[in-house]
Amino acid sequence: MTRVEPSRVRALLDAFREAFGAEADVATDPVAIEPYGRDESDLGTFPPDAVIRATSTAQVAKVLALGSMLGVPVTPVGARSGKSGGSLPVRGGVSLSLERMNRVLEVNPADLLIVVQPGVLTQHVDDVAARHGLFYPPDPNSAGYCTMGGNVAENAGGPRALKYGVTRDYVLGLEWVLPTGEVVRVGRRTSKGVAGYDLVGLFVGSEGTLGVATEITLKLIPRPRVVRTALIPFRNVSQAAEAITEVLTSGLWPRTLELLDDVALQAIAGRGLPVPGDAGAVIIAEVDGVQDDAVLADLASLVERCASRGSLEAQVAQDEVQRERLWSVRREVSPALRALGGRKISEDVVVPRSKVPEAIERFKAAGARAGLVVATYGHAGDGNLHTNVLYRDRADWPRVEAVLADLMAVTVELGGTITGEHGVGLAKQRFLGLEQAPALLDLQRRLRVFFDPAVTMNPGKVFPDPGKA
Ligand code: LAC
Ligand code: ZN
Repeated sequence: MTRVEPSRVRALLDAFREAFGAEADVATDPVAIEPYGRDESDLGTFPPDAVIRATSTAQVAKVLALGSMLGVPVTPVGARSGKSGGSLPVRGGVSLSLERMNRVLEVNPADLLIVVQPGVLTQHVDDVAARHGLFYPPDPNSAGYCTMGGNVAENAGGPRALKYGVTRDYVLGLEWVLPTGEVVRVGRRTSKGVAGYDLVGLFVGSEGTLGVATEITLKLIPRPRVVRTALIPFRNVSQAAEAITEVLTSGLWPRTLELLDDVALQAIAGRGLPVPGDAGAVIIAEVDGVQDDAVLADLASLVERCASRGSLEAQVAQDEVQRERLWSVRREVSPALRALGGRKISEDVVVPRSKVPEAIERFKAAGARAGLVVATYGHAGDGNLHTNVLYRDRADWPRVEAVLADLMAVTVELGGTITGEHGVGLAKQRFLGLEQAPALLDLQRRLRVFFDPAVTMNPGKVFPDPGKA
């Protein structure tokens, strides 16, 4: 991929420094900027030419306007915890970091909302909400280190999306800098509102291609007073997947139904998850509500439904310490799988819920055909599966590609989508055409160019054939 000429970047940096003087936080030292070329996608390192750590909306607007005017790629970046390469500056240019814009601007319990800057950690939003008896549910399993700006850019999901939805469902309004540098306010502060087009919906999940959020107004909801968690083992993953359908058609509405298959269990063996030796899969189920006895009754009924589908003996977390232990092991699945295989590619496909057992079986078969281990875990209650292809080194890459192509083809054939929460980014652009027709891709490219005529916002991402736009 062609990188931008360094002289253009220098012109941008000079103009930025001239506008902001001592306030301009610009780094060009290779050692300092190298980390901005990496994320959690395992796609490699793509260093920027410079990193600008913005401290205000005016600075963000200036960087975008200069990028557009001078033809310098600008790639917004938060905590670098993305899984699809969304923040990798593949054509060089400027990494525009929002990490210093990390203030909570307003908490308004009476209006059930909070206004934050993009660099605020997701966990901090929920911690502040909790002080007022309120709740910010989305947590992409990395709330402790991911930022709200990144969550907005990728429309992040996570385990609780089953009951509570994804980031998009909580963003009421945005202060948004367009690729050409104009600042607009979109959305609202009220719970309802249908004036004009839903631009919040367009911008949330736009993966850094349509501009940058500089202020995010989020809806909060009443915090559930009681949460109960159970670990439910099964002999095999198909039984577990079928139990999930049984639970979701029984009138129960758990907040999470997470699945771990045999390979995922093997990866975390010895880390304290109380799983019997003959288990080939587990479900982590969580139910919440207001009254403890009602929540416990729901959990008991959920466990019974699973037993009717052949589960082994369930363990109910007896206190917050046991509950947190279950979740900390769940959070370790991704790194533990990497340790098992050496390297891995983590997908986030979604299939219609009824197709989860078939999907998992066919993904494993695709791995077996190529001689690679495929693990599946994740938000099976949503049909959202983190299928991981494990491999040793670059020499395995042709086989990894073959498995990924199979996974995507099966997903689309089953009526699913190639990404449920990580975004298309760099990781999945070559598969987008499997799911979306040429006319739809073309419409989206035209929208992109409408907002970003010079195509300097995060170029080389999302759409196949990145040479085009
Ligand atoms: C998770 C991330 C990988 O659910 O989406 O663990
Ligand atoms: Zn996930």
